[in-house]
Amino acid sequence: MKKWRPTRFFSNTFNEVGWETKIETVKCLRRNHRATAGGQRHGAFNLGDVVTSGVKVLSDEERTRLEEQNKRMVSEFQARKLETDARKHWDLFYKRNETRFFKDRHWTTREFEELLAVDGGEGSDVVKTMLEVGCGVGNLVFPLIEDGHRDYFIYACDLSPRAVELVRQHNLYDERYMRAFPCDITTEEVFGTLGEGSLDIATLIFVLSAIHPEKFGAVVGNIFRLMKPGGMVLFRDYGLYDMAQLRFKPGHKIGENFYMRQDGTRSYYFAEDEIGDLFRGAGFEVVVNSYIHRRTINPKEKIDVPRIFVQSKFRKPSG
Ligand SMILES: C[S@@+](CC[C@H](N)C(=O)[O-])C[C@H]1O[C@@H](n2cnc3c(N)ncnc32)[C@H](O)[C@@H]1O
Repeated sequence: MKKWRPTRFFSNTFNEVGWETKIETVKCLRRNHRATAGGQRHGAFNLGDVVTSGVKVLSDEERTRLEEQNKRMVSEFQARKLETDARKHWDLFYKRNETRFFKDRHWTTREFEELLAVDGGEGSDVVKTMLEVGCGVGNLVFPLIEDGHRDYFIYACDLSPRAVELVRQHNLYDERYMRAFPCDITTEEVFGTLGEGSLDIATLIFVLSAIHPEKFGAVVGNIFRLMKPGGMVLFRDYGLYDMAQLRFKPGHKIGENFYMRQDGTRSYYFAEDEIGDLFRGAGFEVVVNSYIHRRTINPKEKIDVPRIFVQSKFRKPSG
């Protein structure tokens, strides 16, 4: 077999949630890579997820890059201002990008079969409820509806009123099945719309990372109060040493594993055990909690994107 030789080059691409970034890529020349990926000769494909509890082992170069980030940290004043202006930054983000930015999340029912509840759906008297926290413009909820899953009454909330407005303007938005509302999940605001013990499912998809780490406890505590006993939280977010974390230049680091993007939005990178401890500390049982390592290859675009996520499920105890 012809030996696979990686060729390094650079290309503009978009990361998992779409932030434009210069990505160092590895050209994949081997034909059977295409075959294992389902024969998509020119399309993007994943090399397969690696599910692990092991933290990524850093190369010397990566360690140096992380150390470089400490040379110029975001000042305390600027960090405080970013926190005060968090809503403004996300609102401006959605003003600029509207619904064009994030990809529809069609993978959610594959990874979280709980979203396909069998009882309590159509035809049943019991209405099950889910809350999508930090719903953005609805890239999780609308694919569910599009695919015919009306198993839950869907509540969807976001810090950005503009994002919520875009959800409400979607042609699939229908208050018989769902309700979108603005809400800062770090506060008690959510209890103005939802009662304690009212949710069967809560989803947090790339949301906790956008929140200041000092407020993680308050967020998870609120969610615990919202869940019914036996209710499940479905979580996916950036994992420690994800490619996007390693690529931050000096001047962007706010604190340990916490960074500011160019547009003023922020991003945290989670260790798997840290997320486990956080949810366990609030009273949840850990059902699943792992890193997912993924490489997305697009031979035509000459892109190889290695990503690390943390994916988890937490249950509020029944008893
Ligand atoms: C990276 S985006 C992810 C959006 C969506 N979950 C998705 O996967 O497409 C993070 C979202 O969290 C929202 N957000 C940030 N802080 C929040 C808070 N304190 N309360 C509720 N939503 C928040 C932002 O407005 C933004 O829509």
